[in-house]
Amino acid sequence: MEKKELVLILDFGSQYTHLITRRIRSLSVFSLCISGTSSLETIASHNPRVVILSGGPHSVHAPDSPAFPADFLEWAQSNGVYVLGVCYGLQLMVQKLGGVVRVGEKQEYGRMDILVEGSSGIFGNKKLGERQVVWMSHGDEAAVLPDGFEVVARSQQGAVAAVENRERRLFGLQYHPEVTHSPEGMETLRYFLFDVCGVSAGWKMENVLDEEIRIINDKVGPEEHVICALSGGVDSTVAATLVYKAIGDRLHCVFVDNGLLRYKERERVMETFEKDLHLPVTCVDATDQFLSKLKGVVDPEMKRKIIGREFICIFDAFANELEQKLGKKPAYLVQGTLYPDVIESCPPPGTGRTHSHTIKSHHNVGGLPKDMKLKLIEPLKLLFKDEVRQLGKILNVPEPFLKRHPFPGPGLAVRVLGDVTDGNALDILRLVDEIFIQSIKDAGLYDSIWQAFAVFLPVRSVGVQGDQRTHSHVVALRAVTSQDGMTADWYYFEHKFLDDVARKICNNVRGVNRVVQDITSKPPSTIEWE
Ligand code: XMP
Repeated sequence: MEKKELVLILDFGSQYTHLITRRIRSLSVFSLCISGTSSLETIASHNPRVVILSGGPHSVHAPDSPAFPADFLEWAQSNGVYVLGVCYGLQLMVQKLGGVVRVGEKQEYGRMDILVEGSSGIFGNKKLGERQVVWMSHGDEAAVLPDGFEVVARSQQGAVAAVENRERRLFGLQYHPEVTHSPEGMETLRYFLFDVCGVSAGWKMENVLDEEIRIINDKVGPEEHVICALSGGVDSTVAATLVYKAIGDRLHCVFVDNGLLRYKERERVMETFEKDLHLPVTCVDATDQFLSKLKGVVDPEMKRKIIGREFICIFDAFANELEQKLGKKPAYLVQGTLYPDVIESCPPPGTGRTHSHTIKSHHNVGGLPKDMKLKLIEPLKLLFKDEVRQLGKILNVPEPFLKRHPFPGPGLAVRVLGDVTDGNALDILRLVDEIFIQSIKDAGLYDSIWQAFAVFLPVRSVGVQGDQRTHSHVVALRAVTSQDGMTADWYYFEHKFLDDVARKICNNVRGVNRVVQDITSKPPSTIEWE
């Protein structure tokens, strides 16, 4: 990737750190985020043009508060690197250079007016005395600035809001320019990067594609083969399409029908893989294998474990067959790992951890056998989800496919409560889900919802249909809005929409006489039911 103009973020644990990274990338400048306590060697190896010190939940006075390496600021100065401290990052810089940070008399949280004072570099496009609304979130404040620094903006309460030492190329903002609650924050970041630091905007998804193809071609020898398990989701599909573009038919994909897929899912994704993307895919029908192992299992964790294990068995068999056919073992495995899964952050104080990987381990279905000794290819490792979608678009992955809601690895097993093999629970759920999703699409709501699905409840209730009493199943509908799935709110449908869907479901799906809606947020619930 275009690294000459890199903006490196040192992360001190703010909830907004990744947002800064994304904002900068949205200005067509490549940005990476690494732990705030990385060694100077690591920082220098990235050869950044600008380093941003993120905010964080710590106080610089706490004994174990995270900090950049001791000689970082000297290194930055002697290498012509610009430094911008945001919130905690500003306080850290002030303290390390001999200034004083103290607990603020008035803590400032939320929307706040600031006033630009003094001639300034970072607000060079603003007039003296101009006001702007920003988002503050701090307890501590810079009370005495180190030599050579000046205050260039203050809050309405008189606290330091922005500082700089232009000669040493050090800048600091006490507020968060990256959040939308700071309406002029993007303009400030843009001005800072392009006018103050002289960064040039040239980072494009097309470059990422070319660069990743080059990396894959350098890595994979001309006789070597690569395998990839496709889930039907966006990430593995884009990753495989990219690798296919690099090495062609030496890529071998497998798609497993575990019997827990949605209505016509296998036919639909296979068509995209083969007709639209021309990927070399083997489809393995393992329905019986999965369902026989799941018979009688009601514990959700157990279901996940069993499914994970079966995936590995099938994958193992696929690799072995391939080895027979090719006369040699495949050497690499493609994974659609994304940037949020690999970023190392400074965890909040009191967690007892020194570093955290944000991998959602309980969501990873099994993992792959260690003794396979496959080397990894992770071409999306530095990208956020929306960037993967952009890349997919360049690779001609159909747009509706790129916009698909996420689907869990264990499939409908986490949407049928209890034994998935009981009666025709899976078939009922597939039909109900299809009606629900299709209605959402018809109403033009699909893209405003983060994830929607139906759930099969293992209870029967009394109903009356066609003058007869029935004793049939209850299904629940769930639709949520969310940023990243970590928290979520339920989606407010119009009553008319819900009425239509419920009617359609009861009229078309035999065995269902009651439809309910899940109206809990996450937390306290989760998104899936199991
Ligand atoms: P929860 O239910 O944990 O869901 O709030 C958050 C997001 O993760 C998906 N999910 C899973 N994905 N394996 C997966 O690959 C799983 O076991 C799993 N459980 C939940 C869920 O669909 C939602 O997008």
